[in-house]
Amino acid sequence: MTGKKLVLGITGGIAAYKSAELVRLLIKAGAEVQVVMTEAACQFITPATMQTLSGKPVFVGMWDASIPNGMPHIELSRQADAILIAPASADFIAKLVHGRADDLLSTLCLARDCTLLVAPAMNKQMWENPSTQRNIAQLQADNILVLGPDSGEQACGEVGLGRMLEVDELLLLINAHFTPKLLAGKRVMITAGATVEMIDPVRGITNLSSGKMGYALAQAAADMGAIVTLVSGITAIKSPANVRNVEANSADSMYSAVMHGITNQDIFIGVAAVADYTPIEKHAQKIKKCESSLKINLIKTKDILADVASLPNPPFCVGFAAESEKLIEYASQKRIEKKLPLIVANDAAYAMGADDNQVILIDKNGTFPITRSRKSDIAQSILMHVTTLL
Ligand code: CTP
Repeated sequence: MTGKKLVLGITGGIAAYKSAELVRLLIKAGAEVQVVMTEAACQFITPATMQTLSGKPVFVGMWDASIPNGMPHIELSRQADAILIAPASADFIAKLVHGRADDLLSTLCLARDCTLLVAPAMNKQMWENPSTQRNIAQLQADNILVLGPDSGEQACGEVGLGRMLEVDELLLLINAHFTPKLLAGKRVMITAGATVEMIDPVRGITNLSSGKMGYALAQAAADMGAIVTLVSGITAIKSPANVRNVEANSADSMYSAVMHGITNQDIFIGVAAVADYTPIEKHAQKIKKCESSLKINLIKTKDILADVASLPNPPFCVGFAAESEKLIEYASQKRIEKKLPLIVANDAAYAMGADDNQVILIDKNGTFPITRSRKSDIAQSILMHVTTLL
């Protein structure tokens, strides 16, 4: 979202309090945000709050003399890459449908030549009302993107559809909107997370992989228009929207899940920290503490990535190499041994569990470092690099 200019329109609804956090996160993600509020929105949250968080004067009235050319509706929408109305009240949605322009926000929506995104927020009866449903259908027919609403507990005490989406979900959807669709129609399979190799019904061998990098790649690939299958081991993360999630907790079940779905995949990315060894014997009952020492015999697991890359018609394969020493040497070796066009090398100790990462891409043309940044940004950079090699 870096450098994107957004108008954030706030209309009258209790969800307006979430807009404060939304503006903060949009700015953190690199966007420039101009807030425009309706008079009703000012009853729920003050322009002073929004001004402090956005770092820009907030506009409410039509006749604000501080906007340079005296035509705020044209000026504000001309500068924007997108207008986001969050929250969008039932009344404001009705206004949009009818092309009304009786305040600054509705006027600049009518005068826009950029995308309009609308995040409805209202009581469930208002949402279910046929008038609102007709209006939403009309917005969609007019190519206006409707984000949500969500279902859950409402400020009025009722439970149902109508809540504004949470800000992190809105952020993901806005980010997806701005992402170029460089992988449109491509099928991408990604393994992610840790496997756990059971010793007995309550104990297992696992590792510290959080799954964050694999999930970020799945999200980024979906944002770029790909059809994504995420084969996921153990993680505590929610699966991204628009991604098919296949659960596979052990090295063996992950191998089967991948091989079952690999035909027709265009790209395969192995991010999972798959156990290299698994207990030969999986005890049916809990092992009792009797002896002073315990031996568990392990056997090597099958290498999912190497086997996918060795298929007769392999997809474009990307591997990860988490190393604690000799990063480039070991990663390059893995790339050759596993027959991969691309490998992503990263420091094992640093990357696991963190929200950011620092990696080196290695392909036949050389090494390409990506400086430390959020895993979501690293994911986008990796996929952009992949598109140059397809
Ligand atoms: N990988 C896999 N199946 C395995 C082991 C690894 O698909 N059974 C994949 C990982 O998802 C990763 C790459 O292979 O993309 C490298 O994994 P890594 O654990 O770094 O290397 P290993 O091949 O397991 O070798 P070592 O543990 O000796 O470094």
